[in-house]
Amino acid sequence: MDSKIVLLPGDGIGPEVVAEAVGVLQVVASRFGHRFAFQTCPMGGNAIDSHGTPLPDETLAACRAADAVLLGAVGGPKWDDPNAKTRPEAGLLKIRKELGLFANLRPIKPSRHLLDASPLRREIIDGTDILFVRELTGGIYFGESGRRPHASGEEAYNVMIYNTGEIERVVRMSAAAARGRRQKLTMVDKANVLEASRLWRQVTGRIMAQEFPDVKYDIVLVDAMAMHLLSRPRDFDVVVTENLFGDILTDEGSMLTGSMGLLPSASLGTPGPGLYEPIHGSAPDIAGKGIANPLATILAAAMLLRHSLKLEDEAAVIETAVDQVLSSGHRTKDIAASGPSVSTREMGTLVVEAIGKP
Ligand code: IPM
Ligand code: MN
Repeated sequence: MDSKIVLLPGDGIGPEVVAEAVGVLQVVASRFGHRFAFQTCPMGGNAIDSHGTPLPDETLAACRAADAVLLGAVGGPKWDDPNAKTRPEAGLLKIRKELGLFANLRPIKPSRHLLDASPLRREIIDGTDILFVRELTGGIYFGESGRRPHASGEEAYNVMIYNTGEIERVVRMSAAAARGRRQKLTMVDKANVLEASRLWRQVTGRIMAQEFPDVKYDIVLVDAMAMHLLSRPRDFDVVVTENLFGDILTDEGSMLTGSMGLLPSASLGTPGPGLYEPIHGSAPDIAGKGIANPLATILAAAMLLRHSLKLEDEAAVIETAVDQVLSSGHRTKDIAASGPSVSTREMGTLVVEAIGKP
């Protein structure tokens, strides 16, 4: 197979972790006889510096023309000035919107080799296997926002807005995913307060009854979900929720695995390239030190092979290799507790070696 993959390494630790994922994709290509053409483009803070915008038109055009996009992370203190006219994060929101990536898949499945890396007790997390589907191109992230004068100074507002179609498409994708898993869908909302949540509840209830009678369906309020995720994570299969709730709950969920450095994500939607990224940020505090965990990005590369290139066997080979490396006891600093640790590069090389000799 011949495929075009655009790389958006971004800022902070982004370039370090993307480099390791590329090494892994290259060894997969040679083992299975594929050709992946990589093109690296500026995005995020570095693009603000070089092009004055976090998502240059040429970068967006290259992404549209690709089969898939692999992203590191964007942002950093250098671009945090509240008065700046643009921010790295704006580029991320724009690429999600422009590529129509309305569903963000964030699997949370703690490795059995890392059950003691989580701050939670092993008997709580053992056996957890959740697929979070976060709505990604609507809600408060994209609603009207602004500031206006107020007697006390100013007031600022962000509008949470959803329409029927936006809810239907992400619920359908989530319910279809549940069919291939344990046939259970949980919808998380705040319908006791928010009108937008009441529309979510109405639309989801209808879609589930009409189109997915075989999938068990329940509803949990977001505040309760924050608690259940820590007390009984095993009870959930697929969880679908709106953009901001999904952002918050999946960072919380990452602690079930022990580190943000382990969680990949896939952003999918309308036909066209998918966007794959670790759920962690640019970690400016450790950027350049060579200690970041590349496994989230390597696992994002596996999701890229599975979802955009339909290479299921190749994706599974990466996941098995990661499992082997962890099972052999290799750890980056974030998951090493007080034991010895390997560098970003060493971890990438260990995964490459595990793939190279099946
Ligand atoms: C994420 C990140 C982004 C988000 C930020 C960087 C804009 O936190 O992908 O979860 O809020 O969506
Ligand atoms: Mn986030």
